[in-house]
Amino acid sequence: MIKLPGLIDTHVHLREPGAAQKEDFETGTKAAIAGGYTTILDMPNNPEPTVTLNTLEKKITLTKSRIYCDLGFHFGATLDSVAYFPKVKDKVFGLKVYMNHTTGGLLQENPQVLKKIFEAWLNDRVIMVHAEGPSLEKAISLSKQFNSKLHVCHVSLAEEIRLIKQAKDQRLSITCEVSGHHLFLTDEDLGRLEGFGKMRPPLPSKKDQKALWEAIADGTIDTIASDHAPHTKEEKSSNNPPNGVPGLETTLPLLLTAVSEGRLIIDDIIRLCHTNPKRIFNIPDQPDTYVEVDPTIRYTLYAIRLYTKCSWTPFEGMKVIGKIKRVVLRGNLVYDNGQVSDPPKGQVIYPKK
Ligand code: DOR
Ligand code: ZN
Ligand code: ZN
Repeated sequence: MIKLPGLIDTHVHLREPGAAQKEDFETGTKAAIAGGYTTILDMPNNPEPTVTLNTLEKKITLTKSRIYCDLGFHFGATLDSVAYFPKVKDKVFGLKVYMNHTTGGLLQENPQVLKKIFEAWLNDRVIMVHAEGPSLEKAISLSKQFNSKLHVCHVSLAEEIRLIKQAKDQRLSITCEVSGHHLFLTDEDLGRLEGFGKMRPPLPSKKDQKALWEAIADGTIDTIASDHAPHTKEEKSSNNPPNGVPGLETTLPLLLTAVSEGRLIIDDIIRLCHTNPKRIFNIPDQPDTYVEVDPTIRYTLYAIRLYTKCSWTPFEGMKVIGKIKRVVLRGNLVYDNGQVSDPPKGQVIYPKK
């Protein structure tokens, strides 16, 4: 048995309020616990986006007695949300800026608005960007101008890795994450997955994926996040499927499988899914919290065994090695051999001072 610290996923879409048919606070945080995550951070791109103090407080109120893991929030960037930055500063872990089109209505393309956003955000807290390819150049240049602490979400291209390396060499404050689906699926899986393999950024080519693994090995990639973005089966099998795939319950088993194949070591998982996210986002300590995994168990991923409300996974039928056996949160056994236990023991968390 291997003991891991409670893992941290800084990029999760729990969908409540406004899209609870895809996921809600209960099912999403149960999925987190079952996936070995004791802390997750929720994104602001709900149908009613998290861009005011009120919408943030509404989210916090909705979680009452319903969350199974610790849960923190990110704030959404718009021209109008800038006015709330001082008010939410101690309540959120990061500001999310959407620089490309994806789920939700938070896209910011106007250079003047982007400037205002970067200028107004508080330098000691992270600005997370959804910035694919050319947008990433803009994000890096803005963060240079305003001394921002930039965190690049879901890198998926060799070119993005090159830009981030260059920025790190220039000693800019920049970190980046990669998502599980970009590490373990490629555009070659799209034929089989159809709409269920559609997400932003899209699945990488084999060549780009190789660059992602190399960037893990050379330390350019700082964190792994699931970018858990559930949509219903009906939506995903429609003619115009929305972007996003669930990932909370499949990422750790896939990473453990990579360990069994010699592509990673356990210390990499701890660094990428605990130590680095904790430091970058100022996440508070969780005493007496850990995850026990049996690295020798072979099994197959089936959606039917998952807690996520969307009840599908792009990894359906994939053989993995390494199973999560138990999760302990603040001394409470909250997951034992496939069962998340009631009552929920999670708390809303705020960044460390
Ligand atoms: O595929 C994605 N889905 N990419 C995003 O950036 C948003 C996410 C979602 O919220 O569905
Ligand atoms: Zn994104
Ligand atoms: Zn996302």
